[in-house]
Amino acid sequence: MQECEQAQAMPRIGDKAPEFKAITTQGEINFPSQYKGEWAILFSHPADFTPVCTSEFMTFATMAKKFKKANCNLVGLSVDGLYSHIAWLRTIKEKIEYKGMKDVEIKFPLIEDISMNVAKKYGMIQPGESQTQAVRAVFFVDPEGIIRTILYYPLSLGRNFDELYRILVALQTADNFQVATPADWEPGDDVIVPPAGSCGTAKERMEDGKELKCYDWFFCTKKVSKDEVFDAIKK
Ligand code: BEZ
Repeated sequence: MQECEQAQAMPRIGDKAPEFKAITTQGEINFPSQYKGEWAILFSHPADFTPVCTSEFMTFATMAKKFKKANCNLVGLSVDGLYSHIAWLRTIKEKIEYKGMKDVEIKFPLIEDISMNVAKKYGMIQPGESQTQAVRAVFFVDPEGIIRTILYYPLSLGRNFDELYRILVALQTADNFQVATPADWEPGDDVIVPPAGSCGTAKERMEDGKELKCYDWFFCTKKVSKDEVFDAIKK
């Protein structure tokens, strides 16, 4: 690191999401307070009027209803100004047809952050990648305002929005059922229960009336159906 460069505090999983007020394409935002009791995804992109970002916004906007149904608000950010944001979103709606998506309206707020105040608070400016643009960061913030997952992608790599949705559902399932989710988990797959300590070499035991499958004393799973996963999210 060069001497004049200031070390940036990076928020971590389990931290309270740093508070900020900002101007967005949907008016002023007070983050994360205004989303108390709901989930929020705060995500940054490097710049308006760029192709990867355009493909991402069209994809995310097309999936926005799905995220809303899972009690989750989407909030975008780049270090561009409000008029650039407005012009870019209008261009997307009026001109861009991509992979069957057209007439796409971005209804979630997009923060203007010319000062980079918010981007710096959230560790979105990563000088090795770019001094002047935010990397593609994603912060999952829970209903108590706690950061639960953080993703950082470089400028050249568009995000997988099915994976963002999978993360959101997995985090809520972990909370709703006091379980963990194994590799490549999808709703309806077996979930991992915490070790009971007394399972020993038992292959099977019961919990909450459900049969457990134990691969060893430290690794037991149980069934949670897709309906149970989504019924718990609706509540
Ligand atoms: C893009 O969104 O296409 C992009 C933005 C900044 C750097 C490289 C690509």
